[in-house]
Amino acid sequence: MDQGRFAGRVALVTGGASGIGRAVALLLAREGAMVSVVDLDLAGAEAVAANVRKSGSKAAAVGCDVGNEDEVQRAVAATREALGEVGILVNCAGSVEGSFLADMAFDEWQRMFSVHSNGTFLFSRAVVKNMKEGDRIINIASIDGIQGQIFGGDYAAAKAAIIALTKTLALEVAYRGITVNAIAPGVIQTPMGQMLIDVAPEFYKEIPAMRYGKPEDIAEVAGFLASSGASYITGQVIVVDGGITLANPVNRFTARLMGLP
Ligand SMILES: NC(=O)c1ccc[n+]([C@@H]2O[C@H](COP(=O)([O-])OP(=O)(O)OC[C@H]3O[C@@H](n4cnc5c(N)ncnc54)[C@H](O)[C@@H]3O)[C@@H](O)[C@H]2O)c1
Repeated sequence: MDQGRFAGRVALVTGGASGIGRAVALLLAREGAMVSVVDLDLAGAEAVAANVRKSGSKAAAVGCDVGNEDEVQRAVAATREALGEVGILVNCAGSVEGSFLADMAFDEWQRMFSVHSNGTFLFSRAVVKNMKEGDRIINIASIDGIQGQIFGGDYAAAKAAIIALTKTLALEVAYRGITVNAIAPGVIQTPMGQMLIDVAPEFYKEIPAMRYGKPEDIAEVAGFLASSGASYITGQVIVVDGGITLANPVNRFTARLMGLP
C-alpha cells in the first residue's frame, strides 16, 4: 500500500497473533505499513498476516519464542528478507502466571523475565543498529511495572525492567532521531486480560472510566508513537488505563461520597 502514515515502512510486532499485538499489527497495516507478525503461535500469526494482506499491505508470519536469542535473530532475518529492514518495532509478546513471591518457583520468575524483559532486549538489540532517523521502538509494559502487583511480582519486575530498558535505549539512540517509548496498559479485554475479568466481573466499577480497555485503545497510542507527529517524545511511559492508577482509596472514597459512580 502506498498511502497512509506508515506507507513503505516495515513494522515487526511481537505477540502479534492475539490481543493488543494483533490490534497494533492491523492498525499499522491499515495505515500502510508492511507487517511482520511474530509469535510463539505461528498459526495465529499466519491468520493475522492474512488479515493484513486483505487490507492491501504486505505481511509475513514468523514463529518465534521471543526469549530465545537464536530464534530472535532468525525472526529478524526472515522479516528483512520478506519485507525489508525493520523501521517500527513493537515489543508486545507476553504472558502471565501467578504466585506470591515467597512461594514462587525460580522457573516461573525466569519465564516471566524471558518473555518480557529478555524478549524486549533481544528484539531491540537485533534491529536498532540498522535503524535510521524516524524509526521507532515501542514496548508494551504494564501499570504493574510501575506500581507492583500482588500475586504477579515476577511479571511486575519484568515489566519494570522493560521501563528501565526503554529509558536507557531512548537515551542511547536519541541523537540518531530514533525514539523508544513504552505504553503501560491497565486492564485490557484480551485473552490475557479476560483471566482477571473472569474472576472479578465487577472490577470495571473500580476503573474511573467505568470500562475495561479495548486492544484498539492501546493500538491507537502505539500508532501515534510510531508516527512522525511523535518525533520529540522519547523515553516515556504512556499510561493507558482509564484512570485506574489514579483511583487510590482516597479518590474512590471521595467519588462515592460525592455521588459519582
Ligand atoms: N491484557 C491486559 O490487561 C494487559 C495489561 C497490561 C499489559 N499487557 C501486556 O500487553 C501485551 C499483550 O498482551 P495481551 O493482553 O494482548 O495478551 P494475549 O495473550 O492476547 O497475547 C499475547 C501474545 O503473546 C504471545 N506470546 C506469549 N509468549 C510468547 C513468547 N515467549 N514468544 C512469542 N510470543 C509469545 C502469545 O502467543 C499471544 O499471541 C503483553 O506484553 C502483556 O503483558 C496486557
